[in-house]
Amino acid sequence: MKDTPIILIGFMGSGKSSIGKQLAKQLQCDSLDTDALIVAKTGKSITALFETEGEARFRALETEVLGELSASSKKSFVLSTGGGIVLSEQNRTILKSLGTVIWLNASPEVLFERARRQPHRPLLEVEYPRRTFDQLLAKRLSLYQETCNLEIDTTQLSYSKTVKAILDLT
Ligand code: S3P
Repeated sequence: MKDTPIILIGFMGSGKSSIGKQLAKQLQCDSLDTDALIVAKTGKSITALFETEGEARFRALETEVLGELSASSKKSFVLSTGGGIVLSEQNRTILKSLGTVIWLNASPEVLFERARRQPHRPLLEVEYPRRTFDQLLAKRLSLYQETCNLEIDTTQLSYSKTVKAILDLT
């Protein structure tokens, strides 16, 4: 692979983790994931972290793992990120400096359907998940936009077609 890491950003349900793994396999490089790095660092699941230490602590951990990656000499990897990573200005700056940032976008309907299929998303474990989903999405769209180098609309794309699109574009 080239010496520039590829970073996948996007809302819950955009397929960042699965696509990141497939892409890294094609590029024969490491597949990293900020949620997984946080779980490895703390020994706690994301759900447990939200419950016992709160969202603010989770956000601080996102900044910590990004800082560690940025300070490391690692240059060949695909990084999938949690959907809220762009909320912090510091994270947005680090992401842009780390490599090529790709925003995996899709229609809200498709994102919601995909996000719902997997449990363990503490932010959606609420009484009216679709309403919360729409509110979070509205707040974040411009942040994904300002952070990315490239946007891919995956509404009509399978994961493997998305991987191909990324390979064609980078
Ligand atoms: C979050 C998204 C999750 C995870 C955490 C918070 C968010 O990752 O980081 O539950 O704020 O959107 P995915 O985007 O992989 O679901």
